[in-house]
Amino acid sequence: MPNENEIQEVNIHARMAKVDRKILIMSGKGGVGKSTVTVNLANALLSMGYTVGVLDTDIHGPNIPKMFGCEGAILQSNEDGTAMLPVCPREGLKVVSISFALNDPDQAIIFRGPMKLSVINQFLADVEWGTLDYLLIDSPPGTGDEQLAVCQSVPDLTGCIMVTTPQQVAILDAKKSVNFAQQLNAKVLGLVENMSYLVCPDCGRHIPVFGKDGGKKLCKEMDIPFLGEVPMELGLQQDEDMGINWIAENPDSESAKAFMKIAKHVHDTAEFKHTPYVPSFSSCSPSSCASCTANCSSKKA
Ligand SMILES: Nc1ncnc2c1ncn2[C@@H]1O[C@H](COP(=O)(O)OP(=O)(O)OP(=O)(O)O)[C@@H](O)[C@H]1O
Ligand SMILES: [Mg+2]
Ligand SMILES: [Zn+2]
Repeated sequence: MPNENEIQEVNIHARMAKVDRKILIMSGKGGVGKSTVTVNLANALLSMGYTVGVLDTDIHGPNIPKMFGCEGAILQSNEDGTAMLPVCPREGLKVVSISFALNDPDQAIIFRGPMKLSVINQFLADVEWGTLDYLLIDSPPGTGDEQLAVCQSVPDLTGCIMVTTPQQVAILDAKKSVNFAQQLNAKVLGLVENMSYLVCPDCGRHIPVFGKDGGKKLCKEMDIPFLGEVPMELGLQQDEDMGINWIAENPDSESAKAFMKIAKHVHDTAEFKHTPYVPSFSSCSPSSCASCTANCSSKKA
């Protein structure tokens, strides 16, 4: 009989087989806009008619629920208690975050590496994601346990989207994220340069607050696709804090147009693949296999 980990792996494969594209959003430096890119990309894809799941793997600072206006929601289980149901703030959108499992959203979580891996695997295995066009996975800054868990556990991960500002220190950190993904054989779908410039509310002039073209140069240097630049825009952060859909409310803003363009680009270039999965379990033996109902490779042998 398969052990608990092996059963979880089987469940993850079954759940993820129903999701066409699974994308990890990463950055080296904190606060560069990963969660903003995740949420706006999700909203853009939803507006294009796709179904989108968003998994918040930022265990220490889960911001996704607030940005979708569903802070304080609680994860429910399905009728027979065999799976968790994602929170659905809008039609077509399914959200899961560790904060939905906490009694007090202000509570600090003390989790070590293995526990993070375990929580992320549970969210992949035990949440009834259903059929989705996209699963966008937001992550904390850096290349730590969360990113490793996603790259190792998500079967047929479509790839990673890197987020950076044009600032030199952010670019240096972004390089590490690209190297990390490449080391793990995860495809780099491309890089989004966020906060590329500030649009002056008076004259519309572009002010390069964090420098210019850092993201583009990095893409050239590392030979990865440049997905686009998103300007800093007044009002975006306030709307985000209130859970307002920025793209829907400000479709003519430069940032909304940039997010739409990036979403289209991602959809056109992110190929989805599905590798058939045949599990094989450590305990397989002629005697145990006789009574086992799992459809695994040793049975066929
Ligand atoms: N293009 C933008 N225009 C205006 N404000 C922005 C923009 N992008 C991000 N922000 C704001 O900057 C802050 C940081 O963004 P965000 O939380 O998305 O970054 P992050 O990379 O997810 O951060 P963390 O590393 O803490 O997870 C937020 O207050 C957000 O509203
Ligand atoms: Mg974040
Ligand atoms: Zn001006």
